[in-house]
Amino acid sequence: MTLLHTGADASATKPTTRRAGAPDDEYLAFCEGVRALSSIDLSQYKRGQMERRIRSFAQRKGSTGLADYLDMLRASKDELEDFLDRMTINVSQLWRNPEQWDLVGRSILPELAGHGHPLSVWSAGCSYGAEAYTVAALCREHIPSTRVQIRGTDIDKRMIERARRGWFSAEDARTAPPAMLQRHFEPVDGGWQARRELVAMCTFEVGDLLRMHVPSERLDLVLCRNTVIYFNDEVRNALHERLARSLRPGGYLVIGSTERVQDPRAVGLTPAHPFVYRKS
Ligand SMILES: C[S@@+](CC[C@H](N)C(=O)[O-])C[C@H]1O[C@@H](n2cnc3c(N)ncnc32)[C@H](O)[C@@H]1O
Repeated sequence: MTLLHTGADASATKPTTRRAGAPDDEYLAFCEGVRALSSIDLSQYKRGQMERRIRSFAQRKGSTGLADYLDMLRASKDELEDFLDRMTINVSQLWRNPEQWDLVGRSILPELAGHGHPLSVWSAGCSYGAEAYTVAALCREHIPSTRVQIRGTDIDKRMIERARRGWFSAEDARTAPPAMLQRHFEPVDGGWQARRELVAMCTFEVGDLLRMHVPSERLDLVLCRNTVIYFNDEVRNALHERLARSLRPGGYLVIGSTERVQDPRAVGLTPAHPFVYRKS
């Protein structure tokens, strides 16, 4: 279970003035403190579930409250890493929601390849890369003569390091079609290693979706699945708008099977299939 990476030196960071001066909302003061330590803005995530998780984690660490716990995080880089490591969920798997991948492989990729140029795909919130390697395998299978670049980004640097290796456990592969696994992965150490051709198609970078630069009208396919569920509505809608902007006309946005784009037409998207939107 992981959300975040740390970009700052915990021991070097000073307490924020907010905590000292206005402890009226202990949770927001805690978020501000964490932002100063790690550059991660927890206040952009849905408060209810995030606050419950933080409070229960803080309690398990033996702290008396969030202010006390923040002091622990300031005092120890290891505690801070441990905290950030538990704040959200990296769950993923190859061919997660197989019906979505069936559609991507049989319909969306061939249509995009028909545009006649190399394809750019972005797995936004890629965790340890299962989504990116799944789409790479589908490209090899369904549009083998089209050049495709797949970029995966995630806020969690440990997940990005794992993604670069391209190895998945048998559990990660439980919904992958066996024939696809055999063709595009090799059995290694009781799991599955993406073949060289797949690894060569994928690059992975650490990036915070809420801050990173998103190119305008450059991408053909954006996958942002099971990541915005943590964001509050305003942040999620703004992110969907930026993702829509990143697509070329005719490109596709695929979201998670429990998610929705609140007002697709307002951001230039047309619902094309369940959980799939086409840029107008
Ligand atoms: C549940 S996983 C989803 C992985 C994959 N998209 C899938 O559906 O299988 C959510 C991922 O979002 C990442 N995440 C959370 N907040 C993020 C942010 N602000 N920027 C980038 N990634 C973020 C987490 O680190 C986690 O790896």
